[in-house]
Amino acid sequence: MSQPDGQSNTLDNLLNESRTFPPSEEFAAQANVTSALYDEANADREAFWAKQAEGLHWDTKWSQVLDWSNAPFAKWFVDGKLNVAYNCVDRHVEAGHGDRVAIYWEGEPGDSRQITYAELQREVSRTANALASLGVGAGDRVAIYLPMLPEAVFSMLACARLGAMHSVVFGGFSSEALRTRINDAQAKVVITSDGQYRRGKAMPLKANVDDAVAGTPSIEHVLVVNRTGIDVEWHDGRDKWWHDVVADQPDQHTPEAFDSEQPLFILYTSGTTGKPKGILHTSGGYLTQAAYTHRTVFDLKAESDIYWCTADIGWVTGHTYIVYGPLANGASQVIYEGTPNTPHEGRHWEIVQKYGVTIYYTAPTTIRTFMKWGAEIPAKYDLSSLRVLGSVGEPINPEAWIWYRKNIGGDRTPIVDTWWQTETGAIMISPLPGVTAAKPGSAQTPLPGISAKVVNETGKQVGNGEGGLLVLDQPWPSMLRGIWGDDQRYKDTYWSKFADLGYYFAGDGAKYDTDGDIWLLGRVDDVMNVSGHRISTTEVESALVSHPSVAEAAVVGASDPTTGQGIVAFVILRGGAEDAASGEAALAALREHVSKEIGPIAKPRQIMVVPELPKTRSGKIMRRLLRDVAENREVGDVTTLADSSVMDLISKGLKSSS
Ligand code: WTA
Repeated sequence: MSQPDGQSNTLDNLLNESRTFPPSEEFAAQANVTSALYDEANADREAFWAKQAEGLHWDTKWSQVLDWSNAPFAKWFVDGKLNVAYNCVDRHVEAGHGDRVAIYWEGEPGDSRQITYAELQREVSRTANALASLGVGAGDRVAIYLPMLPEAVFSMLACARLGAMHSVVFGGFSSEALRTRINDAQAKVVITSDGQYRRGKAMPLKANVDDAVAGTPSIEHVLVVNRTGIDVEWHDGRDKWWHDVVADQPDQHTPEAFDSEQPLFILYTSGTTGKPKGILHTSGGYLTQAAYTHRTVFDLKAESDIYWCTADIGWVTGHTYIVYGPLANGASQVIYEGTPNTPHEGRHWEIVQKYGVTIYYTAPTTIRTFMKWGAEIPAKYDLSSLRVLGSVGEPINPEAWIWYRKNIGGDRTPIVDTWWQTETGAIMISPLPGVTAAKPGSAQTPLPGISAKVVNETGKQVGNGEGGLLVLDQPWPSMLRGIWGDDQRYKDTYWSKFADLGYYFAGDGAKYDTDGDIWLLGRVDDVMNVSGHRISTTEVESALVSHPSVAEAAVVGASDPTTGQGIVAFVILRGGAEDAASGEAALAALREHVSKEIGPIAKPRQIMVVPELPKTRSGKIMRRLLRDVAENREVGDVTTLADSSVMDLISKGLKSSS
């Protein structure tokens, strides 16, 4: 099979990696699980998942563990009833843990807040009452466009409590992106803040909502948290301050039990076409796997650990490993509002030291940024409380893995490299910290209860030492239940490639090493992975061609030492625009345009003006060749191009313009 996009360097590194790091005897002895868990799950998968589900509180027990008769539409814990928010909050209070801190919140400017489970119960109840007073009920959609504030957690849990669905939109997305997502979900209410702190400055946020909501007929109310005190425009009747609507509500609210398959949230993610997909997750199965994976993969001890996941709540990692997993397990966790270098590059380590963080979960791009800043920065802090480190979002290169273990983990902590997706809802492939001899750069083994395979183009499992495509060949409890409003796209996107075999195709390339461990090699489709965020090439291309000076655009993800991949765009300008638009200022304006259309995360690292794009005879752009140019490599085989001289033109043009 062809090599996954832009991963050649990673692959070379991975193939040369042979070190292993077994857990220490002390760690293994105190770990929550042993290797017996794999045997237990293999013996009877459904019984295994039923046992995990029993860790939650069910108002009505299920009659059947899994109904797969209407595949690929799964039902887990059929006829069971539960309330997700009750499971994440109230039951811990009822079990006598009301005084345990749920959230140690740390604001970017240095303010902080501690919220116990008893307080969380009151806050979530007030918020649920407030949303109900705004007309939100079971089945309704609520958009959440907030920075990392406790109110984001209250809002998500309040929706869950009411049986309403949240659709969290990352605060770094543009008003245009917010508008599309609100309209697709037909959300009734959007929750936002006046502004957000970013690198020491208060930046507007509600202003984006005002722009978006001008084109969203379904929105009835905008609920606004006062975070920064900056000026905002106000639309009487539509806009409500959080402190007006929420504060005076009763702090008690009786949760209703909902069906196990009650929709819990929609989360939009990039696909290979321009339109983001609304990934749909439901309640019982999702919460079961969120809690199980959080407990086993991080070896969580709820009474003593201080857990910190640095993701933003706008991504699935924030949903499953800040909100649902940790809170379902009654954990104490840190939530940090800001960037890692505000006001200085040791901020994360200062926070680890301040709260005695024991479990730290972040992305490879962040680790590589810390490497760039230098090992002397973490060395200034006491990080001895750490006992488990995690990584998520993209393949972690062995150098970064080793640096992480040595400089953050004191050469002592296990590292769990966790593979999963928005669609899978929770971790699927990962070492277990007290069991697995970890290999730097490999996610290694499907978790107990999970089945994954590396197969060739025809669906046949490849042998050890061979590469192919990653598939999930058995349904799992936290699997997506569909794409919001588009069942056909759900089937086409994930289930059509190996339709006869009934495999879920993840879109990732992978290989087995000689021990049969799995190494993830990156996306095999037109989805880029920039700082662990999925961005589709098509989405950026459509943003570029929506600018009046651009005639045609092709976008590739070129490997980048810090962000994994960087966005490189090739554009053909419209007649007349050529001279004016190829100047630096004009290219900067194009980058800004993309940022406005999608969000700053989608801003191309580089834009190259070219006279032609390399296309096959059927008109398909050959991104592989453009990637060669973007990564400064000799251009590969051009024989399938309709006009093989195009690459010469492109290379010449670039040389003369540089
Ligand atoms: C990639 C993030 C290698 C992969 C939770 C996947 C990874 C996509 C890993 C999902 C990992 C995530 N090793 N690649 N440990 N974790 N990926 O939906 O390409 O934002 O398909 O979910 O990230 O990204 P998403």
